[in-house]
Amino acid sequence: MPQEEPLLAPRPSSDRSSMRNAEEEDALLTGEHTHRRTPRRALYREISLFTWALLATIAVIILSVFYNHELNKNQTGTKKPWGPGGKPSGKRNMIFMVSDGMGPASLTMTRNYRQLVDGLNADDILVLDKHIIGTSRTRSSNSLVTDSAAGATAFSCGLKTYNEAIAVLPDHSPCGTVLEAAKMAGYMTGMVVTTRLTDATPACFASHVNRRKYEDRIAEHEIGEYPLGRVVDLMFGGGRCHFLPNSTDGSCRGDDKDLVELAKKKGFHYMQDRKGFDALNGGTEAKLPLMGLFADTDIPYEIDRRSQKKVYPSLEEMARTALKALSQATENTEQGFFLMIEGSRIDHAGHSNDPAAQVNEVLAYDKAFASVLEFLDQDSTPGVLVSTSDHETGGMALARQLHPTYPDYEWFPGVLANASHSTEYVNDQLKGILSSNKDKSDKQQAVRNLLYKGLGISDASDDEVNAIINANSTWPPQYVLADMISRRAQIGWSTHGHSAVDVNIYASSTKDAWPLVGNNENTDIGSFIAAYLDVDLKEVTKKLKSSGSWSSSVLAGPEVINEDEFNWMGHPLQENVRTEGLDTYHGDFKKRNVDADLGEYGSGCGCGDH
Ligand SMILES: *[C@@H]1O[C@H](CO)[C@@H](O)[C@H](O)[C@H]1NC(C)=O
Ligand SMILES: *[C@@H]1O[C@H](CO)[C@@H](O)[C@H](O)[C@H]1NC(C)=O
Ligand SMILES: *[C@@H]1O[C@H](CO)[C@@H](O)[C@H](O)[C@H]1NC(C)=O
Repeated sequence: MPQEEPLLAPRPSSDRSSMRNAEEEDALLTGEHTHRRTPRRALYREISLFTWALLATIAVIILSVFYNHELNKNQTGTKKPWGPGGKPSGKRNMIFMVSDGMGPASLTMTRNYRQLVDGLNADDILVLDKHIIGTSRTRSSNSLVTDSAAGATAFSCGLKTYNEAIAVLPDHSPCGTVLEAAKMAGYMTGMVVTTRLTDATPACFASHVNRRKYEDRIAEHEIGEYPLGRVVDLMFGGGRCHFLPNSTDGSCRGDDKDLVELAKKKGFHYMQDRKGFDALNGGTEAKLPLMGLFADTDIPYEIDRRSQKKVYPSLEEMARTALKALSQATENTEQGFFLMIEGSRIDHAGHSNDPAAQVNEVLAYDKAFASVLEFLDQDSTPGVLVSTSDHETGGMALARQLHPTYPDYEWFPGVLANASHSTEYVNDQLKGILSSNKDKSDKQQAVRNLLYKGLGISDASDDEVNAIINANSTWPPQYVLADMISRRAQIGWSTHGHSAVDVNIYASSTKDAWPLVGNNENTDIGSFIAAYLDVDLKEVTKKLKSSGSWSSSVLAGPEVINEDEFNWMGHPLQENVRTEGLDTYHGDFKKRNVDADLGEYGSGCGCGDH
């Protein structure tokens, strides 16, 4: 895609047409005379100036079109200029943060919420707000609405791919990632997430599979069971169930491979709980490689975790510990480190349409962002922090018309402040009530109590309570709960899936992330990371393809593939699934597949899928 000049870039001065001086330029632009003339000569002057202006304008337009054309041609596959900081050189660190599913409305919501709850002024804004540098266009190769897999592949490989693809391209070939390239160039590498380490975002940095649901396989790649061997030095997050053999409690693997044992054999130091995490002493006691799997699947939402702090570390704690561990491990090395940190569950709260859960996720992300800034401030090795989202989730709107009459211009963060838990948590509690053999009115009362205790809702209508008690799989109780709190806060949602809106880019400074100032394609972010680290992704791709485990026969289509040649990436999509180009409307407004599963979010962890 052609790239525009960065928003804040110094504009080229008038030297594109150096025959004009500044005064004349002014005159051409404003149509005003630069000097007073005598009235008699004014008419001639007027006419000739007008002609001049017309001709010059045409010339400038032609020149600038030509110039831009040349510029675009030259920029294809190259980077935008480095700007005032110059091309980075010497030892350096890169921290890349992903706020999964966080769109612009999430920021406004969280800012408004924080100001209310903490009693702050309107200009007391989030740390993120102070570091916005641009926006990212998020479409994938086969849809205007990306998923997290294609979104993260844009960051990790710098290339567009199809929804569901984990660091593989539309032709089902693997693409080298910035993390792999960093490792090969001598950097230390790490990943910190609050969801499963086998989920799409982390997966796209350290594994290659044709479909995101092959989470068992992703786990294998991440510990080094794939053509490049081990590339990750530090992993913190959830998803333990994909690393345990199916004979063990808490496993969700489809086979009996014990990846924890295998990882240990490969040298990983392993921990599975808060106690193990605390023993790292903020990172000073960390020995790499290190794998910390702190939950079977996801680490609970911050709104729920805050009452279980002794069980699960926060995103900020994990980020600080990872930064300490990596900086310590690279103290005497030539290269620094690359660390990816994901606020994974902002997205989940969006899928759930749960604003109270989301506002706390974004606050936790803001804190983690601030902790990385603090690290960069204090560390002697220079570095950059870039943060962005893969896409927006939920189509969130901060105002909602609840009645046919013209609405008041309001939304109410106080409603969110009254919630003490996520709808996910309340939904879990609800199961006990719904499956009990209480009579109807006892159930109704129990539901009312739970609504008050969990969501701070004291004015539930009978219809709402009954909708929860009588909920079915097409309109599950969690949807009802989310709708109840969202209506009261006057927050709107257009979907339980993703949306196509541009998302924000944040950085530690514009100077160090100059090429990302302004509006970017999401792939520009991947290209920037590679350029900042000065690594060659194509070399890694070549290595992946020449590993003997991948064959170009895969390109001939699923029906002629020799399975052994591609099986380390799992089965490709079926032949009839489009990996490039956009679909069009075909009466979809009428279609409603009630049997369809709930998609990415509802289908959960992909347990047992290979
Ligand atoms: C566990 O996985 C093995 C294959 O590795 C399979 O043969 C066995 O049936 C599985 N056991 C269960 C309980 O799913
Ligand atoms: C929050 O909860 C309190 C106590 O139940 C209630 O009085 C208040 O109206 C609630 N506020 C909002 C905005 O829902
Ligand atoms: C499920 O519940 C919703 C809301 O109560 C209702 O409109 C719908 O008809 C129900 N569907 C089924 C299949 O029972």
